[in-house]
Amino acid sequence: MIAPSILSADFARLSEEMAAVGGPGRGADWLHVDVMDAHFVPNLTLGLPVVESLLRSTDTPLDCHLMIDAPDRWAPGYAEAGAHNVTVHAEAAEDPVALAKNLRAAGANAGLSVKPDTPLESYTDVLKHYDTLLVMSVEPGFGGQKFIERVLEKVRTARRMVDTGHLNLLVEIDGGINNDTIEQAAEAGVDCFVAGSAVYGAEDPVRAVEGLRAQARDASAHGSA
Ligand code: DX5
Ligand code: ZN
Repeated sequence: MIAPSILSADFARLSEEMAAVGGPGRGADWLHVDVMDAHFVPNLTLGLPVVESLLRSTDTPLDCHLMIDAPDRWAPGYAEAGAHNVTVHAEAAEDPVALAKNLRAAGANAGLSVKPDTPLESYTDVLKHYDTLLVMSVEPGFGGQKFIERVLEKVRTARRMVDTGHLNLLVEIDGGINNDTIEQAAEAGVDCFVAGSAVYGAEDPVRAVEGLRAQARDASAHGSA
């Protein structure tokens, strides 16, 4: 699956930019929305009122990535608004198990994200309550950064845990995904790829999404062969 990140889109024309990458069946599977609060990360983007408007202007499921402090307090609002996935940071959540339950009760899939230096081991039990694991392959905060290859070890670990039935979730990767990096991520076992600059920086964003998907599909078929 490919989830274009609208962080790299034109913020004055967000609904057109969402439509420009297509929807399920042709183009984007999900649209990735980066919520940043200038506390958990240095950057500031958008919040719940904007997400509510985005939800009204697209049929494509929204994948909300909350890079915010106090997600226990704020994240359920995004689920109640109708986001498909609501992903919180493991480093910021106070009670990630209770939070996952609240997100699911509000009708969303619960996602847990880990920064590049956050080990997975501390969260293996917690992850039993989650529907997605978002492995950050850049330091969260900005688009267009360089892919950090060493996080693929966490992807491999998560993939093994899913394949052996210890976890039941989708493995998602976020940061620096493009034509040069997507194959190694696919081989490591990623299910869903977030891509911002590689999609919105392309002349034809739908073609960019389809190109990434084809590369990922070929690489994962090769990897599991
Ligand atoms: C970074 C965000 C990413 C960002 C990725 O903190 O979480 O979703 O949009 O952008 P690219 O694909 O350009 O690295
Ligand atoms: Zn993101």
